[in-house]
Amino acid sequence: MSAPFDEKERFARLEEMGLTPLWRLRTRLQPGSGAGEEQEAQKKASAGVAPPGRAPEAPRKKPAAAAAVPAPAKERSEARPPRASSEPVGRSPALHPVSAASGTPAASPSARTIDPERAARIATLDWEALEAEIRACSACTLHRTRTQAVTGVGNRQARWMFVGEGPGREEDRRGEPFVGPAGKLLDAMLFALRLDRTQVYIANAVKCRPPDNRTPTPEEIAACAPFLFRQIELVRPKVLVALGRPAAFALLNEEIKIAQARGRIFRYGEIPVVVTYHPAYLLRNPADKAKAWEDLCRAQALVEGKD
Ligand code: URA
Repeated sequence: MSAPFDEKERFARLEEMGLTPLWRLRTRLQPGSGAGEEQEAQKKASAGVAPPGRAPEAPRKKPAAAAAVPAPAKERSEARPPRASSEPVGRSPALHPVSAASGTPAASPSARTIDPERAARIATLDWEALEAEIRACSACTLHRTRTQAVTGVGNRQARWMFVGEGPGREEDRRGEPFVGPAGKLLDAMLFALRLDRTQVYIANAVKCRPPDNRTPTPEEIAACAPFLFRQIELVRPKVLVALGRPAAFALLNEEIKIAQARGRIFRYGEIPVVVTYHPAYLLRNPADKAKAWEDLCRAQALVEGKD
């Protein structure tokens, strides 16, 4: 179990990470460098949110993996969403996400794949076999340019599971998700929730770095989806947080716009999915950190059974 959070240190670290403005009302917004809907959303950005003032998060069980040490790195871009494919990723009306409010059950998400036999086999793997298979994977062309595949990190029995887009340069080099600047911000976001990496599980939609940090294609996301689905099945988190559009697409099989999807609770099977901005986007558009914080507070309420 991790040490209790020292509130003074927490605020010092939040300040260092640029998260303390969350505690202040925003009246002016900073110009962003992003594109598309997030940029549009930023123009409409509203007031910041208050801190939750909750007791420290207690991990359910002992962590199974060590915390990562963040290091500076060039980060991937979040500007481009996954392209709509003319051959949808295992699309089936029954597999579309449903909002929690509708109460309509979703079909097994593991059915969303381009190779059902491979997916069925991966769906039986234990952690060791799964990670070995990820490391050896050559199911899509991304394996040709990777240094190594990046599996996942954190507590394999976590209540929280964060899903990113895919490894960037530093992750490709070190073999661990979110170890660059976006990872530092993710750590700060966790810290704001009184969490650390020993209490959450972090994975990506694709396990191999797309060349030049381009957005993974729907086909690449589909090829990698059985790995993500198995990770989710093994962790069985209480909440999934999709960081950005490709992550949301991987989980929901739906092209969503973060600005429009925020506030809705989607479902991956029985598990609620909260969608929010990718930390790399937030680094370029810090005015939207308040919205991400709001989303994380919503996720926290789900974890705590208050929603
Ligand atoms: N961005 C991601 O989406 N994932 C990582 O692991 C690093 C940066």
